[in-house]
Amino acid sequence: MPTRGLPLRLLLFSGLGLFLVYFFYLYNREAHTSAIQPEHSEPKHSTSKNNIHFEEKELVIASVIGDNTSWVNEYFSDWKTNLYVANNPNATLTVPHNKGREAMVYLTYLIDRYESLPDIAVFIHSLRYQWHNEDPMYDGVPVLRSLQLPQVKKRGYVSLRCTWSLGCPSELHPLSPSSNTDDRSQSEAAYASVFRLLFPNTPVPEVVGAHCSSQFAVSRERVLERPKSDYERIRSWLVDTDLVDQISGRVIEYMWHIIMQMPAVDCQPAGECFCETFGLCNLTCTESGCDKRYILPQYSSIPEGWPEVGPGENGWPELGWYD
Ligand SMILES: *[C@@H]1O[C@H](CO)[C@@H](O)[C@H](O)[C@H]1NC(C)=O
Ligand SMILES: *[C@@H]1O[C@H](CO)[C@@H](O)[C@H](O)[C@H]1NC(C)=O
Ligand SMILES: *[C@@H]1O[C@H](CO)[C@@H](O)[C@H](O)[C@H]1NC(C)=O
Repeated sequence: MPTRGLPLRLLLFSGLGLFLVYFFYLYNREAHTSAIQPEHSEPKHSTSKNNIHFEEKELVIASVIGDNTSWVNEYFSDWKTNLYVANNPNATLTVPHNKGREAMVYLTYLIDRYESLPDIAVFIHSLRYQWHNEDPMYDGVPVLRSLQLPQVKKRGYVSLRCTWSLGCPSELHPLSPSSNTDDRSQSEAAYASVFRLLFPNTPVPEVVGAHCSSQFAVSRERVLERPKSDYERIRSWLVDTDLVDQISGRVIEYMWHIIMQMPAVDCQPAGECFCETFGLCNLTCTESGCDKRYILPQYSSIPEGWPEVGPGENGWPELGWYD
């Protein structure tokens, strides 16, 4: 299948491993600065770009000690923020067990806030620039700024990505898993048995496809379609599992859309997704991507100092390439 605007060779070279490398990086690098002080801003009455009033919108941020999250309050002071520091037991918000990467943070929020959820909750990783942000320069600010809150309300659940690399149209075949030993294959092999445990009344899907990489927005109503006990069961599994973090976290990464009641393959055509989710309605698109929106990079770690340092080198896109 042609992937215009997204050279196949890039896909082949970077492949699935790269975002696992990224997660490894995110969760294993040494703490190099003192613990972040979680900051909380009171929810303010605010009006989205679409003149629809959402009194309650919250960011749920999965971080580790040393992550610079000051961009969140700098740009999104009108959101209530929930900054979890997964590896700091002293943080205002943390997790009962630092296992399963961002999944433990998100589940902990869903459980602890089940009775007091905001209209819309957006679940994100902590750093402003990350390769899996759906932005030409991997900047999380425009992604959140352009997120169409009424669409979140309407659809119930949206991924913060639209491009199909990685995860769509078919990421996992749980009933006929590959016997390879890479992380993707290992999570594919684990998926069916985990699924039966977590969703005992639902048949295991033959194909699972969803946008990577565990950043999404969900409405209160959608979360409440499941009883709290479902989220508790999923978190207990994550606490108890013998799977290593990069596999358990990845299994849940490709379950969020199902947890949030979307079909097992939740791969909107990219152009429709950009228009509905981000209000970008005049793009030139194939089914799997749109021109000048996103380049899958060869490396998972954004250069230090990006975007002042790095663009145009080592395969990273040039500044302004999308103009
Ligand atoms: C964190 O990022 C902000 C920009 O968003 C910058 O001004 C600040 O110096 C950074 N802090 C640290 C500790 O690097
Ligand atoms: C948490 O607090 C304890 C007691 O003050 C301290 O010994 C420990 O180093 C702290 N841990 C972190 C990660 O800040
Ligand atoms: C949409 O794109 C076309 C062709 O690229 C351009 O001529 C037109 O002005 C654009 N419309 C808007 C509203 O941006």
